[in-house]
Amino acid sequence: MTAKSQIDLELRPAELSDSELVADLETARNPEDPRDPAMQRFWWTADPAAEVRTRLIAELDGVAIAYVMARHAAWKAGVRRFGSIRIVLHPDHWTVSRHQHLIEIAESWLKSEGCETVVAMVGEKLENELRVFDARGCREVRRGRQWELDLIANRDRLLAGAELSRKRMVEQGVRILTLDKDADPNRLADLYEVWDAAEHDIPSTVPIPVTPYDEWYHLWFENPGVCSDRLWIAREGDAIVGLSAIEYPPVRGFPWTAFTGTSPAVRGRGIARALKYETIAQAIGLGSERVRTQNDGENAPILHLNAEMGYMPIDPVLELHRELSE
Ligand SMILES: CC(C)(COP(=O)(O)OP(=O)(O)OC[C@H]1O[C@@H](n2cnc3c(N)ncnc32)[C@H](O)[C@@H]1OP(=O)(O)O)[C@@H](O)C(=O)NCCC(=O)NCCS
Repeated sequence: MTAKSQIDLELRPAELSDSELVADLETARNPEDPRDPAMQRFWWTADPAAEVRTRLIAELDGVAIAYVMARHAAWKAGVRRFGSIRIVLHPDHWTVSRHQHLIEIAESWLKSEGCETVVAMVGEKLENELRVFDARGCREVRRGRQWELDLIANRDRLLAGAELSRKRMVEQGVRILTLDKDADPNRLADLYEVWDAAEHDIPSTVPIPVTPYDEWYHLWFENPGVCSDRLWIAREGDAIVGLSAIEYPPVRGFPWTAFTGTSPAVRGRGIARALKYETIAQAIGLGSERVRTQNDGENAPILHLNAEMGYMPIDPVLELHRELSE
């Protein structure tokens, strides 16, 4: 158990109004990936209704110094019960025993919920945190590959790639356009269908829950980082067959690709490449200097596309699992 002298964090339940404090705390923990307060707030409004969660925060002089989150999707008969945790301690207050203590709080909440496997995502650079997780018996089961694309150094090559992809799409009769230019009254329902199918094709150990339409709508169209004139879709005949969008944080931080996906029936024809190139050409036009993206380490087609487009690997994120029964 954690030494009593180290259990000195006064945790209280976090409210939506604490989201900015948590964005600042996340930024202090990882200044190389600043967290946007508006996005943090939005994500907390986008919690799935079917999920159960707890969020705790500790403050000192108006600054968040600790944050604990634990959550799980609705349990389903016959499906392994995974629960996720997020532990953030301010670097000025980080100690091994405080970190252990916060993990214990999150894990014991999940255990009381009936969780079987705890999942934590931790950047490879956060070596102190990884050592604490390792000592607890948490093991890496997957790896999120993170990438950055320099839009200044690669500008001409990227714009040439976008042009080549445009020609290839014209040859195939595929139209690439932003959603605001699409007049089909069924476009949102069609887009939801394509997104949903592609979302469930992302390699994952933890089952990806179904997102109901209204939650999906909120995620995409009430999101301060996405707008319909930056959401690129591919149309073939009457069908929407793909989408790609970059999320632009309104206050601070890097633009990140929110999602790229195509219908299973059209894969391998360069449609995702053409969509991604349009998002990149647009980002260049908007004056962005670099964009980032994250993909599962086993998602071969998108890893291939990113490498080909000139994205450079940055620190990966490790997905750690621990069986609570052990
Ligand atoms: C990833 C995804 C968007 C790719 O869509 P797509 O329309 O097939 O993509 P493209 O045709 O433009 O390009 C795919 C490239 O990957 C290559 N590829 C496919 N399988 C591959 C594999 N196992 N290993 C290496 N390369 C592979 C293809 O050959 C093609 O490259 P090429 O044109 O140089 O030959 C699609 O598979 C998808 O929607 N997956 C589910 C959602 C997802 O994982 N999205 C990405 C993370 S958000």
